[in-house]
Amino acid sequence: MQTNCAIELRNIRKTFGSIVANDEINLQINRGEILCLLGENGSGKTTLMNMLSGIYQPDSGEIFKDGEQVAIRSPKDAYALGIGMIHQHYHLVDVFTAAQNIILGLENEKMDLGAVNDKVKEICERYGFNVDPKKKIYDMSVSQKQTIEIVKVLYRGSEILILDEPTAVLTPQETEKLFAVLRNMKKDNKAIVLITHKLAEVLAVSDKVAILRKGKYIGTVETKDATAQSLTDMMVGRAVTLNIDRPIYDNVFDKMIIEGLTVVDNEGITKLDNVSFTAKTGEILGVAGIAGSGQRELLESLTGLYPIKSGSIKFIDGPTQIELVGKTPMQIRQIGVGMGFVPEDRLGMGLVGSMGMTGNMMLRSWKNGKSIFFNKKTPEGLAKKVWQDLEVVTPSTDFPVRRMSGGNIQKVLVGREIASRPPVLLTAYAVRGLDINTSYAIYNLLTEQKMHGSAVIYVGEELDVLLQLCDRILVLCGGKVSGIVDARTTTKEQIGLLMTSVGGSEGGAE
Ligand SMILES: Nc1ncnc2c1ncn2[C@@H]1O[C@H](COP(=O)(O)OP(=O)(O)OP(=O)(O)O)[C@@H](O)[C@H]1O
Ligand SMILES: [Mg+2]
Repeated sequence: MQTNCAIELRNIRKTFGSIVANDEINLQINRGEILCLLGENGSGKTTLMNMLSGIYQPDSGEIFKDGEQVAIRSPKDAYALGIGMIHQHYHLVDVFTAAQNIILGLENEKMDLGAVNDKVKEICERYGFNVDPKKKIYDMSVSQKQTIEIVKVLYRGSEILILDEPTAVLTPQETEKLFAVLRNMKKDNKAIVLITHKLAEVLAVSDKVAILRKGKYIGTVETKDATAQSLTDMMVGRAVTLNIDRPIYDNVFDKMIIEGLTVVDNEGITKLDNVSFTAKTGEILGVAGIAGSGQRELLESLTGLYPIKSGSIKFIDGPTQIELVGKTPMQIRQIGVGMGFVPEDRLGMGLVGSMGMTGNMMLRSWKNGKSIFFNKKTPEGLAKKVWQDLEVVTPSTDFPVRRMSGGNIQKVLVGREIASRPPVLLTAYAVRGLDINTSYAIYNLLTEQKMHGSAVIYVGEELDVLLQLCDRILVLCGGKVSGIVDARTTTKEQIGLLMTSVGGSEGGAE
């Protein structure tokens, strides 16, 4: 064993009833290294790490810390051993300040807040965070909340940090900042485990990659010897082709016409400024932009969730044009605008955790009347289709959604929306938290919808995917449309330019 080994797992096994989540796993976590834990959705990553953070106990197997066997029976035990985990769902109290949250649950909780602030400041300076200890959680962005979780773990003296898909909710810029912090921690000789599905991130930040497949440990490789293709093949267990088909639909006509859409937030800031475009049948319209350029407001406006200051949104139904401005979200959904939106809290957004896939499919049809189910399939049939198409890891369509892995919950959420086949399908960050294989399955399903004549609007983060998947790309910059370009002929550079400057490219606009 190497001397810098902090944690060693030997033959760890964990089952939930008949599900074998971890099957005889061996893993070594070293100090001064960033280890990525990679595997398809449901392959057992979170479960394995939860045994280090004291949330679950293994059925069998051994855990060693610095060469000595240890038992981790609770999160408290884990902290005592210097192990801290940042979960995907944060455990912060909204009405407390950052500092209050950081010391929450500590024995000497009544300690002098001045001293706490000093220590927080010291941690922040050391690793390059930016935290205001007096700020309340409810005033914070997702990435600030995540920072508090990390500082909380460091405050407790953790030397082994586990981060479960921290970048799923971050913008590329925030991700870069997080990686800078992780590199500082590595220099400080901490051991870091990072779970992410984004292979570009794995290749950019890690020293080693450990791969799980269907609960089994496949192996650990040096990142410098790995490629996106080699990692995918190891993860999936066979050679995978990563390629998106882009067929042309031959009956394209306008389905939704947006004109002069302007919205203003609570503080009077203009979030969408005179936005005009059309969404067409048989077409995927991509929406690109730096995070916070108005993507969220656009989707919420189109689905009736955001108050509209001026402008019109027309839904074209044969010879009739229906004005959507002023209608409720429910009415808009019934007219046929579906939204496969990926929220921060998957269970909070339209899924009932205690119900299975079928129950959740039914939920949608009850809520919205029958109009959504154009294909007339029963909820059970839809559940089976989503199960198959997206290879949802679940023992049955009745298995409670809450017990599925994060990515599999996501598959149910997005799959349900796609399977209900609305004439207009809006999706935002549809592949967040999904493994690469499933991401491609989603791209194919979106293309399938397009070829059924749906107008698909796809808000995405990865330019490469936008360029391969979409027919046209609308670029937002500061709430304005800076261009609408043909995805087949445009370049990444052109889009990058449009993302940072309105009217950045001549002839870019439609
Ligand atoms: N509390 C639980 N009860 C029953 N089954 C569970 C429970 N927790 C996890 N599982 C099952 O264990 C398997 C592994 O889940 P885990 O959450 O570890 O996967 P993961 O690799 O983290 O996936 P993802 O990338 O989607 O987050 C899945 O089949 C999941 O349904
Ligand atoms: Mg997980």
